[in-house]
Amino acid sequence: MNGTFLPLAEARVPVTDRGLLFGDAVYEVIPVYRGNPFRLDAHLRRLARSLAAIRIPNPHDDAGWRALFRELIERNGGGDLSLYLQVTRGAYPRRDHRLPPDPRPTVIAFCQSRPGADPDTFESGVSAVVQPDIRWARCEIKSTALLPNVLLAAEAHDAGANEAILVRDGHVTEGSSSNVFVVRDGTVATPPLAPSILAGITREAVLEVARAHAVPCAERDIAADELAAADEIWLTSSTREIYPVTTLDGVPVGDGRPGPVWTRMRALLQADLDEPD
Ligand code: PDD
Repeated sequence: MNGTFLPLAEARVPVTDRGLLFGDAVYEVIPVYRGNPFRLDAHLRRLARSLAAIRIPNPHDDAGWRALFRELIERNGGGDLSLYLQVTRGAYPRRDHRLPPDPRPTVIAFCQSRPGADPDTFESGVSAVVQPDIRWARCEIKSTALLPNVLLAAEAHDAGANEAILVRDGHVTEGSSSNVFVVRDGTVATPPLAPSILAGITREAVLEVARAHAVPCAERDIAADELAAADEIWLTSSTREIYPVTTLDGVPVGDGRPGPVWTRMRALLQADLDEPD
């Protein structure tokens, strides 16, 4: 925290921190495989974009972040971890919506264990429900103001599902904490980058791997009714990699089993994850 390493339970922010008062903060979740952060350059680029978008000066250059993460990972014993990083605009004496003239960001980073791939998920897939995308218009910013995402995830859970797939203006945007892919007749599609979605690092890795292995894929708008007609639906995220949705709104997707294109992509992505960054 702010350059000091301490036990998680002892880390404290003042109650006047703008991250707490306003959700005035951005974050990253970086998966660590055998002690190596996956696609760290891409995570640092996205962090820099998020910070610039909300006008927080970047507290470190890339070398600074790398050194910090290296030490944090070492102190957490290396191995397979999930590294969480948050930068808030900082704590100031008064609660005031206006930006402080002298930004002093708060930097918080910690590691959590990363549950390995769940064999059940890969065997039977997960269920999802379609919900209206009630979030704001700047979802490309990885903001910690996640109340809509939290509520959408809760509603999905209430419906017995693992994830909410979000629809805005008749088109699929993303999941409440993941990006969405659909497959129809062997062709993979995912919504194009836009302010309505987060530029997922796993999404980019999947697209790169697909292109490198000539798996037909397109970044294009996906109409909501394409979900029901899809042979396969996948979700991607740093914590869950690539996982198949086999039930949508209680109805089987395709034949209700993880599909052949997913099986191939998962193996290809696994090979990419196994390469050192
Ligand atoms: N969330 N879209 C949203 C809304 C997300 O919250 C996430 C990830 C993604 C996938 O991005 P990436 O592949 O870079 O993880 C897409 C993280 C894991 C979280 O909030 O915990």
